[in-house]
Amino acid sequence: MKLSNRILNMQFSPIRKLAPYAAEAKKRGIKVYHLNIGQPDVKTPDLFFKAIENFKTTVLAYTESQGMDELQESFIEYYKKWDTEFTKDELVITNGGSEAIMLTFMTICDPGDEIISPEPFYTNYNGFAQTASAKMVPYLTKAEDGFHLPDREVIESKITDRTRALMISNPGNPTGTVYTAEELRLLGDIAKEHDLYLIADEVYREFVYDGLKYTSTLSLKDIIDRVIIVDSISKRYSACGARIGLVASKNKEFIHNVMKLCQSRLCVPTVEQIGAAALKDTPESYFIETRAEYQKRRDILMEGLGKIPGVICKKPTGAFYVVAKLPVKNAENFAKFLLTDFEKDGKTVMVAPANGFYATPGLGEDEVRISYCLNCDDLKAAVELLKAAIEEYKKTRE
Ligand SMILES: Cc1ncc(COP(=O)(O)O)c(C=O)c1O
Repeated sequence: MKLSNRILNMQFSPIRKLAPYAAEAKKRGIKVYHLNIGQPDVKTPDLFFKAIENFKTTVLAYTESQGMDELQESFIEYYKKWDTEFTKDELVITNGGSEAIMLTFMTICDPGDEIISPEPFYTNYNGFAQTASAKMVPYLTKAEDGFHLPDREVIESKITDRTRALMISNPGNPTGTVYTAEELRLLGDIAKEHDLYLIADEVYREFVYDGLKYTSTLSLKDIIDRVIIVDSISKRYSACGARIGLVASKNKEFIHNVMKLCQSRLCVPTVEQIGAAALKDTPESYFIETRAEYQKRRDILMEGLGKIPGVICKKPTGAFYVVAKLPVKNAENFAKFLLTDFEKDGKTVMVAPANGFYATPGLGEDEVRISYCLNCDDLKAAVELLKAAIEEYKKTRE
């Protein structure tokens, strides 16, 4: 029996690809520090669990396809902080930011259509584009420029009659780059001139460091009908397992059509929506403390990486990732070596090879994405292990 070309052409997630080797290492009794995955260890606010505890029902029913009233309202309230008044027909609750991206691509793309994005980009955009039989079209951003946007001409050179949207994740995964107001303006101007949507994946909006001011794409009021926001509670409230996100746009026609897909998948899990709605009362101190914690971790990581000869990376200012160039020829082989052949005092470390975050073959071969979701002590230990592993790898394998 045949499988679809769509699925056969799809890649496994590079973030999880080496997971079987990690499982094997753990079976051998080795402790693996996970620098490969963006799973925060910060506590989910108690408000989430309390709301679920207090939820009493005899029938666990479907909810509205666009999400429960109180959850929609809690997001509407949240966006006021970002100077935007959404109405209920301008946002739908989704199964995480992941479904928000998929619904967006399915709604705006015909087979063969293209979404333009800076690379490296969040690798799962590829899979979602594939689901819609669409294609990610990348333009290169470089470590030495802090992965900031290139000139207008570079971006415009990628536009064809199949282009439907420009897309960014801001702050960026895997780069940790926070785009400036001028960069967003540039994207807005290009979108307007070429009649495109501008998709902004802002799931890391709260994770911006060094006192930097964050500019949301929602600030582009003159082109707001082109802006599609992808959002999620996964990282903001350290609630990845809840699978609650949303897609929002002032373009009511877009949301109206997204609803067709929402209605066919019926709804998002009821209990998690109850918990998520309660998060609106999370005090500002939660974000301040979480931000300070991640900034501390970033600094520990950068200090540790700075001590490894040959490692190149610029200090990122957002999210909780860094793309680092390693002094090895093939970072994927090295990442595998970490799990299969290396250990120090019964411990090793796992990183995500960065080539999977590039759409252009051959790019990112000597780079890894490192996530700093581990607590400070574990992070220090993990970077020490990385240093020792690179030394051993270079001595014995290259
Ligand atoms: C940039 C970006 N967008 C979207 C997502 C999807 O997150 P979720 O589906 O958990 O909301 C992630 C998860 O890591 C991400 O990094």
